[in-house]
Amino acid sequence: MQAGLESLGIAVPATYVELAELAKARGVAPGKYVDGLGVTRMAVPQVDEDTVTLAARAARMALEAAGCSPDEVGMLVVGTETAVDHSKPVSSYVQGLLGLSTRCRVFETKHACYGGTAALQMALDWVRAGSAKGKKALIICSDIARYGVGTPGEPTQGGGAVALLVSDKPKLLAIEAGKTGVYAKDVMDFWRPLYSKDAVVDGHYSVQCYLDALEGAYKAYQEAAGDAGEGGLYSDRFAALVYHVPYGKMSRKAHRHIRTLDGDKEPDASFDKLVGPSLMLPSQVGNIYTGSMYLALASLLSCSREDLSGKRIGLFSYGSGSCAEFFSGVVQPEAQARVKALGLETLLERRRALGIPEYEAIMAAREKLDEKPAEETPGEGFRYLGTRDHKRIYAR
Ligand code: CAA
Repeated sequence: MQAGLESLGIAVPATYVELAELAKARGVAPGKYVDGLGVTRMAVPQVDEDTVTLAARAARMALEAAGCSPDEVGMLVVGTETAVDHSKPVSSYVQGLLGLSTRCRVFETKHACYGGTAALQMALDWVRAGSAKGKKALIICSDIARYGVGTPGEPTQGGGAVALLVSDKPKLLAIEAGKTGVYAKDVMDFWRPLYSKDAVVDGHYSVQCYLDALEGAYKAYQEAAGDAGEGGLYSDRFAALVYHVPYGKMSRKAHRHIRTLDGDKEPDASFDKLVGPSLMLPSQVGNIYTGSMYLALASLLSCSREDLSGKRIGLFSYGSGSCAEFFSGVVQPEAQARVKALGLETLLERRRALGIPEYEAIMAAREKLDEKPAEETPGEGFRYLGTRDHKRIYAR
């Protein structure tokens, strides 16, 4: 049985910061952030946006794109590392906001940026095993990346969600069963202690951990998928490679590493063709942790000028701490037209730029959001209103 992505949806905050502006404010050459890290803009969520509202908005887009009714969803999993509660999962709030059926398995997964991929692989197996019985899984990757004002990680923040509708009718990407390689290792490269809103990171070490995990997962993939007698450089069997994107330059480093492992004497030469289109949307949003690789996939399908129908693409998901997976899928006919029709580039153009003082004020206000008394006038749309009696209150 085929299984894969039937549709996808994206949600990004309505405001962003220009990284050239942020660099000036921090006394850093703008080239360091824009060219050195490969990020132009980073999304900044407003005080009425959180992991739940972003997840619900992305999910609504994915369901509408597929014409899928809430009753057809039999599994709802949110992968996140910026959850809003130690016990109640983000997915339960989303179930309520979207009006999904009570006959739905609802939970949350966590493993840094890998949590969404863990959920996706579980959903694919659920479909392939026949347990879905015609129902679909809604997998949502939703996060707000936050390192704090003035830290080296600051220009690699961001926020957003990607929702993936998984079924036996993959109209976007059929994911190849059995062709997957995993690599996990207990490392302290990036984490967020229970007492902190900001992530703690050993930045340069985290880059090395990412590359080690890429190498391990890529080799495991090759063992699982085999050579299939295709010859040539192994990664040339992919029409595109989509990497986890904490910032664009990391994808460049990843690609160089894979091509060097393949024995390519010019490991950067294929970057623009195989990776470039997947970085266009991420360069406008920044890191969205669990959703980063899936935003890169949406970018590839939306921005590539090449006809990818019927072609295989490789995907690499990395979660610090660490767990990583390299897997592959085949782009379906009409997939690019379907994703283009979502108007993702227009969605990003419509956002409003924040000045640095306004951005810093939002960062400070977000510190206390979990205790903010709930507004009495809800208005419309998925909005976080604050808390009442220790309960988070959302507008529908
Ligand atoms: N013009 C152009 N380029 C410039 C420049 C200029 N004026 N000045 C510096 N650069 C380049 C540097 O040469 C460097 O490029 P290379 O990496 O190719 O050498 C790049 O800009 C960055 O410079 P630094 O390494 O000096 O930057 P830094 O020390 O301030 O921090 C960072 C960089 C470690 C990535 C930091 O932003 C950070 O800690 N980010 C968060 C951690 C992270 O994203 N890790 C990624 C792997 S872990 C992961 O993927 C999971 C996850 O999502 C978090």
